[in-house]
Amino acid sequence: YKIVHARDSFHGRTLGALSATNKKYQAGFKPLLPGFKAVPYGKIESIEKALSDEKVCAVLLEPIQGENGVKIPYENYLRDVRRLTKKKGVLLVLDEIQVGMGRTGKLFAYEHYGIEPDIMTLAKALGGGIPCGAFLATNQVARHFTPGVHGTTLGGNPIAMSAGLAVMKTIMEDGLLDRAASSGTYFLERLAGIKEAHHGLVKDVRGKGLILGVEFKSPEIAKDVVTRAVGKGLLTILTEQRVMRLLPPLIAGKKEIDHAIDIIGETLDEAGNA
Ligand SMILES: Cc1ncc(COP(=O)(O)O)c(C=O)c1O
Repeated sequence: YKIVHARDSFHGRTLGALSATNKKYQAGFKPLLPGFKAVPYGKIESIEKALSDEKVCAVLLEPIQGENGVKIPYENYLRDVRRLTKKKGVLLVLDEIQVGMGRTGKLFAYEHYGIEPDIMTLAKALGGGIPCGAFLATNQVARHFTPGVHGTTLGGNPIAMSAGLAVMKTIMEDGLLDRAASSGTYFLERLAGIKEAHHGLVKDVRGKGLILGVEFKSPEIAKDVVTRAVGKGLLTILTEQRVMRLLPPLIAGKKEIDHAIDIIGETLDEAGNA
């Protein structure tokens, strides 16, 4: 069987996930698992073509690519992929490890598109700092995974499970989904202002809820801005060389966002004058 995945994806560094991840992360870890077919992200024609291979049993995707520079596919992409996978009887696996648990303003990012995957992975925010990951599947898929067929030493340990439950309760009871959605809209509006004021340096700003990216016109500018921002107390990360990725906590509000925008504006003023 084969699994179709996106060429520039990031699914992690364990052997199976690494086999479905961007080649640049694979160096030094070969041999990897066979049976993975890479296609460009966000291009439905490539998925359609790949699905003509009868050996394909699943399509694995990130709803938004985080490590690959906050790439948000066209609005109907996941819906189109879901339609094609259903038609072919192929499973849709969504990696919600970075964008799930409220990050985009919905509990799971796929909810924006009115679809459901057959399998989904969760981690990162799931444990709120305690290592915790999960693999969820529909009943139809999960029935093939009976108790005892798969396991791991620390899997399902009570501390991690309690942390996961506490995180879920907090997200739902403290209104963090609405907060992430409204704070995200505000942050993106303010970033659009930054782009306008610094159009010589900033190429694009984008985001969904509280995963946001600022794409600069060159890797040098991006590195300079990200480094200067850390010095001023704003911790972001450089992804795909020219994109500053912002993943504020879901409790971030106007005050914190205004502060972040002030810092980004200041760093851009400095970078522009450097
Ligand atoms: C989409 C996605 N999947 C999976 C992972 C998990 O990676 P790892 O196994 O290296 O912790 C990450 C980490 O950044 C991620 O962004």
